[in-house]
Amino acid sequence: MKILAIHGSPRTIRSTTRRLAGFVLEGAADAGAETEMIDLADYRIIPCTACEACSLNGICINDDDLPALVARMKEADAIVFGSPVYIDNISGQMKVFFDRLTDAIHYQQLAGKVGCSVATTAESGGDDVVAYLNHVLNYLGIISVGGLSIATGENAEAVDAAEPAALALGKKLADAVREGYSDPGQEAILTDNRAYFKTIVEESRDLRTDEYERWVRMGWIR
Ligand SMILES: Cc1cc2nc3c(=O)[nH]c(=O)nc-3n(C[C@H](O)[C@H](O)[C@H](O)COP(=O)(O)O)c2cc1C
Repeated sequence: MKILAIHGSPRTIRSTTRRLAGFVLEGAADAGAETEMIDLADYRIIPCTACEACSLNGICINDDDLPALVARMKEADAIVFGSPVYIDNISGQMKVFFDRLTDAIHYQQLAGKVGCSVATTAESGGDDVVAYLNHVLNYLGIISVGGLSIATGENAEAVDAAEPAALALGKKLADAVREGYSDPGQEAILTDNRAYFKTIVEESRDLRTDEYERWVRMGWIR
């Protein structure tokens, strides 16, 4: 079982968010998972320019690290998203990454996995960012088992108090991979999303035949 955490703090190994996501991975590892942490800031990801080339063949005109990251996500059974709160939202690094996942979202290339999200903030906005990160997981076709946000008051040590909750979240995630996880509310959201993205897959049937056929095999197009 592989669990991958991806966090968008530019502070990389000094990041409080990375530390919180690390506790989640530790909990998952204790429950038997093989884990990996991705510091997005170490990767070259060019912002989407809305050229729409990827919608023709799934390939971005930019040659950067995004395809390798998507490949790592495909290999994982579960994904943890983490971001610091920047002006009440996710970090720019995280948003650039998410924008580049549009094709993976449209074609539901990561569907069927489970995930969870974490955020850290000085004072406020943590819960909203966790909700947004989980919303993006749902866009990807991934069901979230929960989330955790910490307000540090700019004291990085404050994250240590959250270690037990983060370990428990990691264990819950690993258990969800092993035993399955059901959430009727999120499942309804995923079904609605797929109904919306289905029109894109059908419209591009002649250009993206492999993807169309995968959707048929998945039973998402009848
Ligand atoms: C550009 C920037 C914007 C921030 N915006 C907010 C904010 O809107 N609200 C808040 O409470 N903290 C804000 N913070 C503080 C960070 O959210 C907080 O220090 C966080 O724990 C940093 O996580 P990191 O160590 O993983 O980068 C901001 C910090 C930076 C650098």
